[in-house]
Amino acid sequence: TTRLILDCDTGSDDAIAIFAAVTHPDLDLVAVTTVNGNVALEHTTENTLRALDHVGAGVPVYPGAARPFVRPDFPIPRDILNEGSEFQQALLDLPAARSTVEKQNAVRFLIDTYLDDANADVTLVAVGPLTNVALALATEPSLAQRIPRLVLMGGAAFVNGNVSVAAEFNVWVDPEAAEAVLSAGIREVVIVPLDATHSAPLTSVDCDAFDALGTPAATASASLIRHRLTHGQDGPEGSPVHDPMCVAYLARPDLFTESVEAYVSVETTGSRTLGQLLVDTRPWRTEGSNATVALRADHGVYRDFLHTAFE
Ligand code: BDR
Ligand code: CA
Repeated sequence: TTRLILDCDTGSDDAIAIFAAVTHPDLDLVAVTTVNGNVALEHTTENTLRALDHVGAGVPVYPGAARPFVRPDFPIPRDILNEGSEFQQALLDLPAARSTVEKQNAVRFLIDTYLDDANADVTLVAVGPLTNVALALATEPSLAQRIPRLVLMGGAAFVNGNVSVAAEFNVWVDPEAAEAVLSAGIREVVIVPLDATHSAPLTSVDCDAFDALGTPAATASASLIRHRLTHGQDGPEGSPVHDPMCVAYLARPDLFTESVEAYVSVETTGSRTLGQLLVDTRPWRTEGSNATVALRADHGVYRDFLHTAFE
């Protein structure tokens, strides 16, 4: 069993990542931390509680950062973004949360957890803006040596971004946090950028298969993915379902069929390229590698992972 903490900004695909982390037999979801992102913190937290309630998980939830690391507020009005805040705030039709949050803040929770040797095996999976992780590392720099592995969804390595031509949403919301995390010296960092998530989109056929399973996680995921197919940026043929890929990788290390070792950094000042991920694979670069960047995923492996989780 792989133990993990999920840091998320739920969010439709975040919810599916939560479902899979709870229901997959090889995974043990220790806690969820929430962050400002797809919607404001109060909503990402409420959505997270709803998602956990839906699959009957008594997993503790720690609310974290309500603002980016450096920038005073969310970069632009959220409604300008494609899926709109209304949809993501409501997280479809899941009933209001019955469970409640822990008192401790996510940043303090991450610090305490990783300072405890008993948690030296817990993978950190971050599928929202990296504000909480950056704040934890800034507060307790030794965490870089203590987090055994960070798997994160973010960036567009060699493809266009989804917020701007250069930037993917999670990195764009908090570029300074992403840069701080990538340069912190964490031992093992796996980046799952749009290159990977767009290479294995889920389709209405996948949704039908989930519906046939009939479990709460399966049917809720099918309806979230169907919403993405009809309302998302990517049209009805297939939708990249980003965040669960990070979770899938823990149980199915064969998920990524192509990846590169690189020195990865983030553009924090560009007027057109703010939030761009710079993936340096040049053999003559001066820095070593600080991350493995997944570039391509196998649709069959991804589907099988979700199937095993949801059945
Ligand atoms: C990322 O942005 C969010 O909207 C999704 O939840 C995902 O984490 C994709 O760019
Ligand atoms: Ca997310």
